[in-house]
Amino acid sequence: MKIKIKRDKEFSEFEVSSNLMLLEALFEIKQNIDSTLTFDSGCRSMVCGACSVRVNGKEVLACATKVNDGDEVEPLKYHKVIRDLKVDKSSKLQTIKREKAYLKEYKEVALTPEDEKLTERQSDCILCDSCYSACPVFEVNENFLGPFALTRAYRYAVDKRLKEPKEIIDNIQKDGIWDCTLCGECTLVCPKGIDPKGDIINLRNLSAQYGYMDPNFGNMDFGSGFSF
Ligand code: SF4
Ligand code: SF4
Ligand code: FES
Repeated sequence: MKIKIKRDKEFSEFEVSSNLMLLEALFEIKQNIDSTLTFDSGCRSMVCGACSVRVNGKEVLACATKVNDGDEVEPLKYHKVIRDLKVDKSSKLQTIKREKAYLKEYKEVALTPEDEKLTERQSDCILCDSCYSACPVFEVNENFLGPFALTRAYRYAVDKRLKEPKEIIDNIQKDGIWDCTLCGECTLVCPKGIDPKGDIINLRNLSAQYGYMDPNFGNMDFGSGFSF
């Protein structure tokens, strides 16, 4: 069967064996047809997050996706393409630094199983960047903190061991929680079942407790007949 792979601006077509995972198909092409084909991989078992690409417009892990005849494979969106399917993911480290979501000053408290449940799903993130590629906000705002970073902010903001979550809450107001359209694309594509959209809604509620409100609220048009 045949699959198409985006290389620079054009798609190239390759013949691959059937019943392969996409990552196996990419290695087959590299070993037997074109050794210059470039892509990222690591663990080959959904752990490292390196192999994320788009197939027919949807973000997937190549090591966890069966290849189908006619598939169109492209690099992630909103990332600088280094070559073929390999993209530069270094900007996420800058994003993590920008939001300062970690246990800066912590206190000793005993965590209950319920406390741990609150943050364990977010801790499964493998930094695959699929949610960034799927998020439409980057189309209009390249400074948006983005789904993974906001999920991480929530993970630490509700961690009982953090002495003062306010700094995290302060840092996610600009280019953060209020810029999200709540479209849910990030949640749909996450290979680890993380729900960034849900975490962003929780962060909005948490922010209200710190006196923040949606900055767009004053600009909203409620239509005629609506009065306060
Ligand atoms: S829900 Fe928000 S963060 Fe997630 S993809 Fe949509 S706009 Fe982006
Ligand atoms: S939240 Fe999910 S989609 Fe986003 S980087 Fe983490 S594992 Fe990937
Ligand atoms: S190769 Fe590590 S997640 Fe696919």
